[in-house]
Amino acid sequence: MASPLTVHEHHHFEKATEALKQEHRIIEKVLGAVEKLTKSPGEIPVELWEKAIDFIRNFADKCHHLKEEGLLFPALEEHGIPREGGPIGMMLFEHEEGRGYVKAMVTALSHAQQDPQAARTELFQNARAYLRLLREHIAKEDQVLFEMVDSALTPEEHKKLLREFDEHEEKELGAGIHEKYLAIAKDLEDRLG
Ligand SMILES: [Fe+2]
Ligand SMILES: [Fe+2]
Repeated sequence: MASPLTVHEHHHFEKATEALKQEHRIIEKVLGAVEKLTKSPGEIPVELWEKAIDFIRNFADKCHHLKEEGLLFPALEEHGIPREGGPIGMMLFEHEEGRGYVKAMVTALSHAQQDPQAARTELFQNARAYLRLLREHIAKEDQVLFEMVDSALTPEEHKKLLREFDEHEEKELGAGIHEKYLAIAKDLEDRLG
């Protein structure tokens, strides 16, 4: 039986926000795994960290955040919600802030061999900041921004966005890659959950 999280099931959504909320739930699984990693003593499990960072960079950022930035936010702007100053500006700023933390995590990880102690401190600090940021960010979108979207957009606009989300994924990630990241999320959850 097909997993409820496969890309093909996007077409069953009525609203663009439902698709994005489902991605939030997948991202949260990986955030939970990262939290476990920040609590594990001993040597840094580099392979697991790399897997989590790969997911964050490609699924959370390239697939998910870019759908919001390139497709969802412009749709809101068409309804008169400005890009600067309001909730859209804040979401954009937080995406960028998250990228900074992830970059610092990658740098820390690259020093794991030479200076494990310093690498660990650097990695954990940035990972914890990222977790805090992204969890709050997701809550704001689920509870505030997506409510705005749902009251602003027509059913046709939702359908159009859902189609554009699929096109975005094919273009940015390529066919089948969505499933690869779902498998990575599950694997991390199984190994660390
Ligand atoms: Fe976002
Ligand atoms: Fe989001």
